[in-house]
Amino acid sequence: MSLEITPSGAACGAMVRGVDLTRPLSESAIADIRAAWLTHHVLAFPDQPMSDDDLERFTLSFGPFGDDPFIAPIPGRDHIIAVKREAAETSPVFAETWHTDWSFQKTPPAGTCLFAITVPPIGGDTLFANQHLALQKMPDDLRTRLEGRSAIHSASAAYSKAGAYGEADKSVRSMDIRPSDDAQTEQWHPIIRDHPETGREGIFGCAGYITGFADVAAEESMALLGALYQWQTRKEFQYRHKWTENMLLMWDNRSVLHMATGGYQGHGRLLHRTTIGERP
Ligand code: SIN
Repeated sequence: MSLEITPSGAACGAMVRGVDLTRPLSESAIADIRAAWLTHHVLAFPDQPMSDDDLERFTLSFGPFGDDPFIAPIPGRDHIIAVKREAAETSPVFAETWHTDWSFQKTPPAGTCLFAITVPPIGGDTLFANQHLALQKMPDDLRTRLEGRSAIHSASAAYSKAGAYGEADKSVRSMDIRPSDDAQTEQWHPIIRDHPETGREGIFGCAGYITGFADVAAEESMALLGALYQWQTRKEFQYRHKWTENMLLMWDNRSVLHMATGGYQGHGRLLHRTTIGERP
């Protein structure tokens, strides 16, 4: 087997062909995919009619399952959630703000796998922003303001009972989201940090799950978060991913931000998602 890797030509992302993900992968295929993932940060595997078993096996080829709070797994599985929107649904699109998955955890997931089952005929793209590149190109004055700072992460704005996916949202959303007081927990991570596998420095996280900076007054924190958000999500750092059915996407949460997009009102969308935990 030899992987055929076609870079997107944007700030990150590549299409991968020449591998069958409905079968167990050889050690060398896993090593090649991992190397491509660390290089391109987002890998798309088109035309892979994978079952949930295949999705779980693929995920476990790259690490343990991550711990996925606040969203109930699909029936019969412990580690797969459905990212779902029904055709008639009117709730705000799930995850339509920049973030990196579960950055409020002590050890956030290294990666995320998302498998497309139902893809709308228009819209529903996923955007990615390369946070190594955003740091590399960052103006010195902004970098100086961030250097050595710890960011405070929390799921409160999203998953607390009063949050965006809280009690008031439940009746209008088809996804099985379980808001909880646990969302108030705070976790600190350096805002500039080295990638645990490649050692390459990057920005970790953004406003949303980041609520402020340690030892910085609230007003100054907000101003800094705002300036950072404007910079790190610029178009020049982005890749727009377009889905087709039976496509698996795998991204590196330590290197990129991502967000869902809408534009498919009146059409259903369904993807199955797992997270890849950090390897011990
Ligand atoms: C997610 O953030 O996991 C969902 C992305 C998407 O629905 O495109």
